[in-house]
This record gives sequence, structure tokens and C-alpha cells, in this order.
Amino acid sequence: MTQYTIAQLLKQTAPQDVEIKGWVRTFRAKRFIALNDGSTLNNIQCVVDFENTPEDVLKRITTGAAVHIKGELIESQGQGQTVEIAVTSIVILGDSDPEKYPIQPKKHSFEFLRENAHLRTRTNTFSAVMRLRSTLSFAVHKYFNDNGFYYMHTPIVTGSDAEGAGEMFRVSALDPKNPPLKDDGSVDYSKDFFGKETNLTVSGQLEAETYAMSLGKVYTFGPTFRAENSNTSRHLAEFWMIEPEVAFMDLAGNMDLAEDFMKSVITYVLEHNSEDLEFLDQRLFDEEKTKPQAERSEMRLIDKLKFVTENNFKRVSYTEAIDILKNSKPNKKKKFNYIIEEWGVDLQSEHERFLVEKHFKCPVILFDYPADIKAFYMRLNEDGKTVRAMDILFPGIGEIVGGSQREERLDVLKEKMAALNIPEEELWWYLDLRKYGTAVHSGFGLGFERLVMFATGMGNIKDVIPFPRTPQNAEF
Ligand code: 4AD
Ligand code: MG
Repeated sequence: MTQYTIAQLLKQTAPQDVEIKGWVRTFRAKRFIALNDGSTLNNIQCVVDFENTPEDVLKRITTGAAVHIKGELIESQGQGQTVEIAVTSIVILGDSDPEKYPIQPKKHSFEFLRENAHLRTRTNTFSAVMRLRSTLSFAVHKYFNDNGFYYMHTPIVTGSDAEGAGEMFRVSALDPKNPPLKDDGSVDYSKDFFGKETNLTVSGQLEAETYAMSLGKVYTFGPTFRAENSNTSRHLAEFWMIEPEVAFMDLAGNMDLAEDFMKSVITYVLEHNSEDLEFLDQRLFDEEKTKPQAERSEMRLIDKLKFVTENNFKRVSYTEAIDILKNSKPNKKKKFNYIIEEWGVDLQSEHERFLVEKHFKCPVILFDYPADIKAFYMRLNEDGKTVRAMDILFPGIGEIVGGSQREERLDVLKEKMAALNIPEEELWWYLDLRKYGTAVHSGFGLGFERLVMFATGMGNIKDVIPFPRTPQNAEF
């Protein structure tokens, strides 16, 4: 007798003796168990011979219980499945009190499921989302491996602020009851980490640059942290970022890489996880139908994904984008309040979404931003006021990628750091890259959860990461 997963079992030919372990989704009429083991969205129907099963066992077959079933795989008599199991033996591995089990066989709100994040992957939606997340992360590694990149691990605890935005969580090894004090009696945080001031990383970019300048093509894919107190549907305090970095590549090459990469990973899930995607596509479609016509999405999820893989991203300079926004009339319903008064301001998400969803109607790569609104390390253009930055904007998401060509000239970089009060001692190793064999190089960062949001059609970033960390939530 072979023990299969349900995904494997559904591809087997009947009849044959099988055994299976899983969790009961529903138990109907003392006969029909819908069993799920997480290997697929589909349940297998297990038909219990209730006349020959003791009443106390039947009572323990409840939603959420873990069971071990042996039986014969047979062609199904009923509709909705091709095979089912005629149960010959059932052992309850773990009971689940039907009065208390939070995941009832009904539609729960995402808010409720967020409070039960430890159990929510027992629902169809969350199991589909998390299987897709897993497939996407595999696709990321596959893309870079197929294209000659080395995977490097960048540190989590770091002394530098890669983005210079001051949004860092402090890491401290001090004894809170007996911290070292300064002469004035205040706590001396400069001794945080065995004598150094340290934080959780906001980006692995600066370290990735050091490896790009020796190994050529590298990427990191790891957790990053931002201590920004923003409670939006697109921000997390802990998120995963994919950051490739390539030597001898300019901004145009960076755009080509990012576009090819995004198309490739989305194609990969379309080809390898169609079952979960079709389920989410239908779920979203049903949800859209409950909205007024004007607010409904114009495209279905799978069509949106295919659209991204089949169409070129529109490349537009920041200056052109500002002109477009200036010349656009505000929307009557004030959905997009996109009047821009002047060149130099940072774009708000409503501006980004206007450009992508209303104006160009396709993914957009904005480039050459004003130097003043971007990070210190970006390559200054010859105009002296813009930098070789790029942001990729996606429909429904806004900014999904942020990247740039890096400043490779030692003198220009030092000047920029001085202007922003970034001490050279903090980044002496970063400056060394510009002293010894400097060269044009570029890279970008993709927020993994924003990619998962796009690929699954989920509207809240808290629902695409197992245990979201936000100012409101770090329970699990
Ligand atoms: O634009 P960001 O801040 O760029 C960087 O960190 C660069 N060092 C990347 C690089 O060039 N290697 O962040 C990059 C991406 C954003 O476009 C967004 O997708 C995501 O990271 N991101 C967040 N995702 C979730 N929650 C947050 N709080 C995020 N902040 C940024
Ligand atoms: Mg950014």
C-alpha cells in the first residue's frame, strides 16, 4: 500500500489500495469526508462505511481533525471528482473540538483570518496564496541561477543605513537593567553591539555591491526591515527583498534585466501553478461582481498576469511623467487627485497608479528622478540635478521595484555623502570599491510581498506573508 499526497493520489488510476493522512475539511451525512493535506487545493473524498464504524470514531471525525485513512481508490460515483477512497480503516491522529475550532467550513473575513494566522493556511485562499509564494520564490532563484548570478547572503545586523532614510530598528546587546552610561548619565547606545551601534538591515544592496565588484553578477534574497510607522495595505515592517547587483551594467541594462526577470517569474507561476491561480482568479472575479460596475477591475487576474508577460513595460522619464500629470485634469470623483504643482516633488501612490492604470495602462518604468528625493548612492546625471534611478510601477500595486545605476566616481560620491552628513568612517569599505577598480554597476530591489500581491490578486500585503510584522501586529 502506497502512501501518497492528495496531489499524487488524484493522478492515480483506480482501483488500488492506498493510504493517506490529512485534515478533515468537512464530514457530511456520517459518510463523506472532504480531506485535505495541503499538497493541492483539491480535497479527496473519502467515503466511510458508517454502518461498520464505531459511533465514537464517527463522532471524532470533525472539521480540523487529523486522520490516517486506508482504503481503496475507486472511480467516483459522485460528481465533482474522478476518484475517491472507499475507507477500510480510519484512525484519528488528532482531535479537533468542533465547538472551538476557529476555521469553520464557511467563508471567513480576511481580518478574522489574520487574527488566526497560525491556522489560516487551512483555508483554500491562504493555502493557494502560500503555495504560489513558494513557487514564486523558487522561480526567483531559478531565474538568477539560469542567468549566471551567484546567490549571496547579506547581513541582517548591520552598522550602516543603506537607504539613508533613518528607518531602522536598533539592535542592542546591552543589559537593559544595567546599560553603559555616558558622562551625562544617559544610555550610551554606541556600545549597542559589543561596542558598535547596530541596526536591522533595510537593504542588502551596499554589501551586494561589494560582491558584484568581484563576482560580477550577484543577488540577495532575504528579510529586510523598515521602522516606518505606516499602516497601509502595501507596507510591512519586515519584508523580503530580492536585490540583484551587476558590474559593468548601466541603467538601460538594469531596466532590461528587471523587465525580463519580472516577466520570467510571472510566466513560471502561470505555467507551474495554474490550479491555485485559477482558484484565486475565480474568487476575485466573484468578489468583483459584488462591487458597483464602475469600480470593478477591467481585467481578470490571469489576464493581468499574461498581459504583463506579453507586453513591453513603458519607459518614461520622471520629467515626462510630471508633464503628463500636470496636463491631466483631476478626476471628477476625486479618485485620482493628481495635480502636480512643480518638478522635484516625490510621486504619491495616487500619481503612480494614475500613470499605470489610467494613462499608459501597462507597467511603467520611471527613470531619471530628481537627485534630492533619492538615496545618496545613485549615479548623478550630467545635468547635475537628476540621478539614474528607476522605479517600476505595476497596476494595482504602484511601486514594485526600486533601483539605480550606482555612483562609481569617488569624488562625486564623497561630495554627496558630505552634503547629507553621512560619515565616511561608516562607509569606508563602500568607498574602497570606488578607489580600487571602480566601474559602472547597477541593481534593483523588488519587494517580494508586492510581487506576491500582484501574482495572487490579494489586496493587502498582510495576507501574502505568513506572519506579518506591522506596527499593529507582531503577535505570532
Ligand atoms: O525602493 P527601496 O527602498 O529600494 C532599496 O531598498 C534599494 N536599496 C534597492 C536596490 O537598489 N537594491 O525598496 C525596494 C522595494 C520597493 O520597490 C518595494 O517593492 C519594497 O522594496 N518595499 C517594501 N515592501 C513592503 N513593505 C515596505 N515597508 C517596503 N519598503 C520597500
Ligand atoms: Mg523606492
